[in-house]
Amino acid sequence: MPVVTQPVVEVCDPVQSPDLGAASIPAHVAIIMDGNGRWAASRGLPRVAGHREGAQAVRRTVEAAIRNGVGWLTIYAFSSENWRRPASEIVDLTGLLRRYLKSEIKELSENGVRLRIIGDRTRFDEEIQADLARAERETQRNTRLNLTIALSYGARAEIAAAARAVAAAAKAGELDPAKLCEEVFEGFLHTAGTPDPDLVIRTSGEQRLSNFLLWQAAYAELVFLEVLWPDFDEAHFAAALAEFARRDRRFGARAG
Ligand code: IPE
Ligand code: IPE
Ligand code: MG
Repeated sequence: MPVVTQPVVEVCDPVQSPDLGAASIPAHVAIIMDGNGRWAASRGLPRVAGHREGAQAVRRTVEAAIRNGVGWLTIYAFSSENWRRPASEIVDLTGLLRRYLKSEIKELSENGVRLRIIGDRTRFDEEIQADLARAERETQRNTRLNLTIALSYGARAEIAAAARAVAAAAKAGELDPAKLCEEVFEGFLHTAGTPDPDLVIRTSGEQRLSNFLLWQAAYAELVFLEVLWPDFDEAHFAAALAEFARRDRRFGARAG
């Protein structure tokens, strides 16, 4: 289950001024990695071949994020709705996940990458849960890139779990409902203590969020790319960053 932390912010200020200074590099990039199945189908290959190739694209993307000075990268690897897929595909995906963790942890650590997992990990078997906990533990002191993998993740489930935790804290007398504001609520989400994504990229041409970071992406810039995830490379990453740099972020305020 997600670790529910105590709220970090006690003071709520709904009229805080947004930082309108145009940061040209997003501090936090989140990616909906879509199109593995279509990539495989277009080559007459089984879907698992697309997922396997997708893991290579994850490697390239982590390197690209580091090279571009992005401090936070969140990747959507498996949604709470993806449990609806055939059991054989779920077995393939969890197998690839275990292999990825086994083969990458050393290199991620050498590159200064800290790994975090968000989502309902209790739905995975115990061995996988142990692998996930180990990967987080072994990388927890790294600071160059914060890599979050969303696994068995659904934003609505995350928000409902946070609401449950808030209600329980209020019932126990630990939280005054009158003082519950956005900043306090955020402390109950899986992403507590991490910055909101500035840029959300989705590959494969689909233009939807599919239950990804619905709270956190409130003011993210959205970039939809036609490329299928297994073909995603540093040039696509750079193109999305360039598109981000051209955007005029206003957060409801107005510049000048
Ligand atoms: C993304 O690729 C990976 C997961 C959702 C696990 P898909 O498997 O959704 O590929 P398409 O969308 O069917 O092409
Ligand atoms: C979204 O892709 C989830 C991930 C990329 C992990 P899907 O392929 O599951 O999304 P839908 O079903 O097309 O909305
Ligand atoms: Mg898909």
